[in-house]
Amino acid sequence: MLEQDHASGIEAHYDVSNEFYALFLDKKYRFYTAADFWNKQETLEEAQVHKAGFIRGLLRLSGDEKVLDLGCGWGSMLRYLRETGHSGELIGLTLSQEQLTFDQQQRGLSVSLSDFITEPFEGAPYDRIYSIGSLEHVRPAELANLYQKTYDALAPGGLAVHQFFSYRSDPCPISVAVLELFFPGSMLSMHRIHIEAAEAAGFRITHDSIHDYKPTLRAWYDRLVANQDKALALVGLEVYNRYMTFLPFAWLFFKQNEADLHRVVIEKTAC
Ligand SMILES: C[S@@+](CC[C@H](N)C(=O)[O-])C[C@H]1O[C@@H](n2cnc3c(N)ncnc32)[C@H](O)[C@@H]1O
Repeated sequence: MLEQDHASGIEAHYDVSNEFYALFLDKKYRFYTAADFWNKQETLEEAQVHKAGFIRGLLRLSGDEKVLDLGCGWGSMLRYLRETGHSGELIGLTLSQEQLTFDQQQRGLSVSLSDFITEPFEGAPYDRIYSIGSLEHVRPAELANLYQKTYDALAPGGLAVHQFFSYRSDPCPISVAVLELFFPGSMLSMHRIHIEAAEAAGFRITHDSIHDYKPTLRAWYDRLVANQDKALALVGLEVYNRYMTFLPFAWLFFKQNEADLHRVVIEKTAC
């Protein structure tokens, strides 16, 4: 699986059906990444807006910056930025054909089908580059090059924000193997590999916080259970069961402290 290109792995996980994902992701933005629940009563929709606000704060936007979203999914954060008044250019990259069609046709966003690991960042320089839940797909051996490419594509004084989960320490082999079942061709890295790669590229790390993925995984699971009939009609038993296994597996993965969800800000000096 690790020998295949990223596009076929992404297709296997993301191109099952946009309607299927809509059954369990938040209704407005359709984020497929960890939200911020401030309390137990909150809805997934509210929690995703909190997360988006947090990331927007880390991006320190004044309104006209040129921004690149690596792995933009269903255009969630790009749409949030547009709706909260960002007037600078917003560009997204995805490797999922289903997401691309949705982003362009339903959301009118500027999104391209491009592998951010192997292809150059068209349109550089950018003032801001961010990713939410995409670096998990980058194999450890690819990280150094990706951080260097990000550094080179940023304007002087620019910054990047990444939300991703990473292993705390050397992973248990069974975790690595099981993750291949859900994300074929992807491979998680240890956190220190991210930090070392960012620093080697020239970045200064100015923020690194840890957040809890479990409430979001629980909310998605509950929605998928509540929508079982519709989900089965859309994707069939095998795919439905895969997600019914994946979501509790991921919950346990965090419960057992194998990995942490980080939000990291890395900055390029002004000169
Ligand atoms: C977990 S989703 C997150 C989507 C979105 N950022 C969000 O918060 O909902 C991961 C995204 O990364 C994209 N992705 C993963 N690897 C990629 C690559 N090598 N090149 C471009 N996009 C990639 C997938 O297509 C998908 O859109």
